[in-house]
Amino acid sequence: PDIKSIVGLPDFEYVARNYLPIRNFTYYRNGAAGEYSYRNNLEVFRRYRLRPRVLVDISNIESTLSTTILGHNFSAPFFISPCARADYAHADAEINFVKGAAAGNILYMPALFAQRSIEDIAAAKKPGQVLFQQLYLESNETFNKDLFARTEKAGAKAIIFTVDSAADGNRHRAARFGVGSADSSYSAFSWNFYEQLRNQTKLPIILKGIMTVEDAEEAIRRKVPAIILSNHGGRQLDGSPSALEVALEMYEKDKTMFQKIEVLADGGIRYGVDAIMLLSLGVKAVGLGRPFMYSNIYGQAGVEKVIQIMKHEIAIDAGNMGIPDLKKISPDFVEWKKPNGW
Ligand code: FNR
Repeated sequence: PDIKSIVGLPDFEYVARNYLPIRNFTYYRNGAAGEYSYRNNLEVFRRYRLRPRVLVDISNIESTLSTTILGHNFSAPFFISPCARADYAHADAEINFVKGAAAGNILYMPALFAQRSIEDIAAAKKPGQVLFQQLYLESNETFNKDLFARTEKAGAKAIIFTVDSAADGNRHRAARFGVGSADSSYSAFSWNFYEQLRNQTKLPIILKGIMTVEDAEEAIRRKVPAIILSNHGGRQLDGSPSALEVALEMYEKDKTMFQKIEVLADGGIRYGVDAIMLLSLGVKAVGLGRPFMYSNIYGQAGVEKVIQIMKHEIAIDAGNMGIPDLKKISPDFVEWKKPNGW
């Protein structure tokens, strides 16, 4: 269908379901086991009521969307999460994400298991464009050092070390179509291993896949510069919490945590208001995975459309919530008590 018919992010999933080969669609859409965490990621945002304020001057809201991530400037508080195999939707694969992110001035995190190499993706960058490179590391030092050297040479500004995949994801849906998990299995990692990695690269190493307040506290103790609250889009461990639940757990234990470390989050974000809810707790920026993967059916135009829709929805939803300045958003805009029955 004509891209003009797309009005919201879920429309891209509809198009992908109907127009991609079923095996390709299934690889993107898949969640672990019974997919409860996958669904919870989407549904958790509607479990809490908003507390919109009225008669507030919100006329400047659009100009307050810009943000910094590890000191780098971006036009909006959302980014493209690292996802493998963009060639399943488009022949130009990840190149559409690099170019789309540049056009919309947002952050892109290329995945190690991208279809295009770290070097090819870097070569498609606009001058000055910032990328954070996602890596799966191994206990083998030579393997990691080689990846660090390639990442530094390609000009990435940070490394995203995915830590939520200690074992393979239990992916029934994809397995039925013969699509295996591309992730590592039974890695022998530890917090001390993280500290050793820091001596092997000059780039900041962000941890992706933090799912408890305890691990967020440990990350602060170990002086990790930033963490991504994530359950891998519900693809790894069914029953794992959504980013919103983890952010709330952190906020309730010690809300100053969000000042001590940069907190990013992803999973299930499909509407402007979903992003706003995470930001309200102190999350700096949120990532989207599947919506960008599906949008790539339309190539770079699709990627830009996701960015445009998200920017627009964040602005109008914040406006309707009576938020004059997105940078000064507070948790008071959400009723964090769970309604009866939850
Ligand atoms: C992913 N994700 C992922 N994460 C990562 O660190 N390395 C990877 O290689 C991949 N690969 C991957 C492939 C596909 C097809 C998907 C959908 C996801 C997880 C991704 O970074 C992110 O955490 C989730 O996609 C966020 O959830 P939503 O936005 O897809 O609901």
